[in-house]
Amino acid sequence: MKAKTSSASLAITTDIILPSDTNALHGLFGGELLARVDRICCIAAQRHANAICVTVSVNNVSFGKVIPLGSMMTIKAQVSRSFSSSMEVIADVYLEDRDSGIQTKVNEAIYTFVAVDNNGKPIPVPELIPETDLEKQRYQNALQRRQLSLVVAGKMKPKDATELKSLFE
Ligand SMILES: CC(C)(COP(=O)(O)OP(=O)(O)OC[C@H]1O[C@@H](n2cnc3c(N)ncnc32)[C@H](O)[C@@H]1OP(=O)(O)O)[C@@H](O)C(=O)NCCC(=O)NCCS
Repeated sequence: MKAKTSSASLAITTDIILPSDTNALHGLFGGELLARVDRICCIAAQRHANAICVTVSVNNVSFGKVIPLGSMMTIKAQVSRSFSSSMEVIADVYLEDRDSGIQTKVNEAIYTFVAVDNNGKPIPVPELIPETDLEKQRYQNALQRRQLSLVVAGKMKPKDATELKSLFE
């Protein structure tokens, strides 16, 4: 299977935040953001795998800033690392200033997807080639995040999480 670049998986969506998307303080409802990020991350994963992909884990989401009603929000998602059948996908969330058009990053989310066949059985995915400095850094750190996620999910013993241990040494 031919390796693919991280940028080949890039998926971007831009939308406006409407009243039905918001909470009592007129900011974007958290679950609404999670669903939008999940969708665009799934597209990035499917671009990398050329197969059906399902969410296996939401590794981290930070709601760093309120996304107000009426905002123009852009989400950019890319596969940051692939393993055997799983892929880490990172989404960066931006708000666009109406006057200047300048986009400012407000949130980040990290999801894991698994490529599956028509019966929902995991299948292999291509290796990922990181190119830019940011892609290389995210690729490098993805192994620690994978081990943390597997330990938290009870699918890996802490003693086997060698990359995680190196964080504390
Ligand atoms: C995802 C799914 C196909 C995995 O099937 P499985 O039989 O558990 O397969 P495995 O245990 O071999 O895991 C498959 C891969 O996922 C990875 N994985 C599993 N749980 C994980 C977690 N919590 N965090 C990170 N990676 C995880 C495994 O390490 C493995 O990766 P690899 O093949 O790259 O080494 C299955 O659990 C499933 O169908 N889940 C429901 C998916 C879904 O409906 N998502 C939408 C939720 S609303």
